Amino acid sequence: MKKIIVNGSKKLKGTIRISGAKNAAVAIIPAAILADEEATICNVPEISDIESLEEILTYLNVDVKRATESIVINTINMENKVIPTEISNKLRASYYFMGALLAKYKYVEMYFPGGCKIGSRPINLHLKGFQALGATVEEDGDKYIIKAEKLKGANIYLDVASVGATINLMLAATKAEGTTTIENAAREPEIVNVATFLNNMGAKIVGAGTSIIKIKGVDKLTKGFTEIIPDRIEAGTYTIMGALLGDNLKITNIIPEHIEALTSKLKEAGADIVIEDDTIICNAVDKLNAVNIKTYYFPGFPTDLQQPFSTFLTQCSGKSKIEETIYENRFMHVEYLNKMGANITTKDRIATINGKTPLKGESVTATDLRAGAALIIAGLIAEGETVIKEVEHILRGYEGIIEKLTNVGASIKLEEIPCKN
Ligand code: EPU
Repeated sequence: MKKIIVNGSKKLKGTIRISGAKNAAVAIIPAAILADEEATICNVPEISDIESLEEILTYLNVDVKRATESIVINTINMENKVIPTEISNKLRASYYFMGALLAKYKYVEMYFPGGCKIGSRPINLHLKGFQALGATVEEDGDKYIIKAEKLKGANIYLDVASVGATINLMLAATKAEGTTTIENAAREPEIVNVATFLNNMGAKIVGAGTSIIKIKGVDKLTKGFTEIIPDRIEAGTYTIMGALLGDNLKITNIIPEHIEALTSKLKEAGADIVIEDDTIICNAVDKLNAVNIKTYYFPGFPTDLQQPFSTFLTQCSGKSKIEETIYENRFMHVEYLNKMGANITTKDRIATINGKTPLKGESVTATDLRAGAALIIAGLIAEGETVIKEVEHILRGYEGIIEKLTNVGASIKLEEIPCKN
């Protein structure tokens, strides 16, 4: 068990370079098993979710070579086996092995995936989509047995524009007979990254990034190469820190269009952020004003930045409102922000933040990944020492967060919590 200790109220000055996107990398790595040859993936972040995927690949007898920032995957000796639940429940993205193994072997046995407990997070749309492609799905407790004689292209309408279901069905349809159309597909940039990779290996996918994706099945995928896009949620998290504490803080390697929903809200609140090509320059200001946000599918305000943004709103004068429309349980960090001095009330999916309130260092718990990010931001602006427990959640998704923040002047460290017995 580890904890993070932050001593707050320090200005942030210098440059933070954004790493590869977690939610693209965790889909592209399972996608790589579709080829019968080698795939090279660059700009892969060093986070524990990637280590968990490597563990799954190794278990399936896939050859994995990890170098700094890149990973080479070779499936020549791969075997189709039931991934033990202790490995698959370490992360949400293990569910991409359902689509990928189904496409490759027409048979997959897998357990319900893990991931942050921010809502019920069903996978019914993934399973319905596999069935539409001709597979049968048997449930045995929390294990699923998905099989097909052959997969056939189909028209699939997603009731909800789910990122996971869109990617999983793209994976399953890549080698199906005929054409699959996914309507009301999610439009997140990570989906474009996955589709580009699959096309590089020989798939025929058009429309990724729009709400209608067409996949013409192919027999075989070959050697692949891709580069992971910059992580828009990591970029957004540091931009929020910069808006609160920046002294000419530069966030580089960003795609500004991917975080426009955030930057427009920061500007509306009066933040001093300047966007130049792939860089955002942030300077703290004396006064910030309350704003309202409502989370939504891309290009709406990302739910993954809602928690970090709520910490920002504690420093804005007036009453701000957050409406969380994607997950029913994504306000678990509020209890801890209030413990630090915030004035936030929640009712159902709405949080009301009364600002501006000074924050003071406290002992808090990261209940999930983005809650952890919200608490690090709170620790950075608070007076005194903040101790954050259960930070394994944070390490799942933010590459080198301690080093990146230390390099720009933050006082932050990671420590082991000694075992009691
Ligand atoms: N949904 C269903 N049925 C399904 C699938 C989803 O009802 O079969 C609902 C969910 O309950 C939720 C909504 O659809 O209300 C969105 O779920 P989605 O499938 O898009 O989410 P996900 O694939 O489980 C990915 C990211 C999340 C991110 C969301 C939304 C990965 C591994 N996870 O989750 O990332 O919040 O998309 O953008 O890509 C994070 O990084 O902290 C994180 C939670």
